[in-house]
Amino acid sequence: MKFAFFDAKPYDKPSFEKYGNENGVKFRFFETKLNEDTVDLANGCDGVCAFVNDTINAPVIDKLYDMGIRVIAMRCAGYNNVDIKHCFGKIHVLRVPAYSPYAVAEHTMAMLLTSIRRIHKAYIRTKDFNFSLNGLTGFDLHGKTVGVIGTGRIGRVFIDICRGFGMKVIAYDKYPAKDSGIDYVSTDELFAQSDIISLHCPLNEESYHIISEKSIKLMKKGVVIVNTSRGALIDADALLEGIKERKVGAACLDVYEEEADIFFEDYSGHIIADDTLARLITMPNVIVTSHQAFLTEEALSNIAETTVSNIAEFFADGKCQNELCYHCGNIEECRKNRMGKCF
Ligand code: NAI
Repeated sequence: MKFAFFDAKPYDKPSFEKYGNENGVKFRFFETKLNEDTVDLANGCDGVCAFVNDTINAPVIDKLYDMGIRVIAMRCAGYNNVDIKHCFGKIHVLRVPAYSPYAVAEHTMAMLLTSIRRIHKAYIRTKDFNFSLNGLTGFDLHGKTVGVIGTGRIGRVFIDICRGFGMKVIAYDKYPAKDSGIDYVSTDELFAQSDIISLHCPLNEESYHIISEKSIKLMKKGVVIVNTSRGALIDADALLEGIKERKVGAACLDVYEEEADIFFEDYSGHIIADDTLARLITMPNVIVTSHQAFLTEEALSNIAETTVSNIAEFFADGKCQNELCYHCGNIEECRKNRMGKCF
């Protein structure tokens, strides 16, 4: 089986080549992202392997279908960049639902601690033999209230980490987990009570811009907002205003709404056209990492192993437990529960 692997990075290749060779899946690595201009590269392949910032919209799906491609293997959990409704009946979409919730949850805490203890400032100072502490005063996490939005795999690991720090945890989830011992509140209550807000829900219609001008108004002065989930959960312009007005005390962003053409690439010698991102990065209380939360050795290995086993499973039986479609989760319409596949 030949798979066109888009947005390939040097750190992807060793694990995908290892598991691919073991299972008869040959990857053709392309550095470019998948979009309408690059989709022809997949010609002659049995499927494509794509990532978070590839564009899998209707024209791309139609082109892949015309080429005879019937499988898209996403090597990630989120699939908001796939027009999954348009795929239905044409191309099966497989994904890696979980690979290391610890990688993302630990990165979330790493960003939070870096921000509130000013490690990003201290690192640069001591590199320059500046040992002054002025302006580096932080605050204790112990006793603070953290509001977690989305209490799935990653959110729950993050909650455990926070409890280890002696923090009070409150949470909001569209589908609260019964008997979890989690103190669920409404979004308004979460915004009003939290010293720190951390986002761990997927991007969907209800969660789009969940952090907005309106919600920031409800928050405590000095609130710290952490987003390691998806960029469009935050209205970045509203966040910038909140920071300028000193309402938001700090922001830690591993994702950004308009990251697709920027993140994962080296633009150090270029002028960034995105004024909002550029302004956010100039702020002393904003930390940006480039969609890095997943990037641990364990996660990379698990991602490659599951992606390859999804492909092998699908080509062996025409079914894959990690297939998804827009009906999935809807008890009445979900065909996967009955047929083992989405269509
Ligand atoms: P999960 O599916 O285990 O949990 C998601 C939770 O969010 C569920 O409990 C669900 O009920 C809840 N939810 C769904 N819609 C919601 C809404 N509108 N409002 C509030 N809650 C809602 O997913 P998991 O594995 O915990 O991942 C969470 C998110 O983390 C992913 O959707 C993805 O966007 C992001 N992610 C980011 C990575 C990174 O490198 N920065 C890597 C992996 C995932």
